[in-house]
Amino acid sequence: MKTTVALDRIAALCDRMGEATIRRMVDRFYDIMDSSPDAAGIRRLHPDELTESRDKLFWFLVGRFGGPALYAERRGQPMLKARHNPFPIGPSERDQWMACMEKSVAECVADPQDRQDLIGFFHMVADAMQNR
Ligand code: HEM
Repeated sequence: MKTTVALDRIAALCDRMGEATIRRMVDRFYDIMDSSPDAAGIRRLHPDELTESRDKLFWFLVGRFGGPALYAERRGQPMLKARHNPFPIGPSERDQWMACMEKSVAECVADPQDRQDLIGFFHMVADAMQNR
């Protein structure tokens, strides 16, 4: 499915969803990754302890969604592509990542427009992270 990403709505998501919902969505995403056999391939790319991964994705999304620049204040430019280069990411890894995030969004986000915007955004970024 071809999704068009409305960047103006992406930049309003923090206001629309609130930081608490973004945090819940991120935590649920890593809980699903941590417990789902289908995601074992990407789980093993991550550290054993996921606390920092949770914080970094939360900080990044709050800023990207128009909220406070939590990530930039702590870690500078995101340079996500470069930061993912050490990890082998191909179609399978992208699909595993998206499957976890799609479940989390379905559970944590009530508004249909927000859900659609989130999935479109995550697809766009996950596609771009592929390096294999
Ligand atoms: C396509 C599949 C993806 C895989 C397999 C993947 C895997 C990883 C791994 C192994 C790390 C390093 C461990 C860590 O710092 O937690 C990481 C870091 C990170 N990922 Fe991903 N990732 C993917 C997609 C994405 C997407 C779509 C986003 C954002 C929408 C994202 C955002 C981040 C952020 C913010 C970091 C922390 C960077 C840092 O400051 O070090 N990743 N990812």
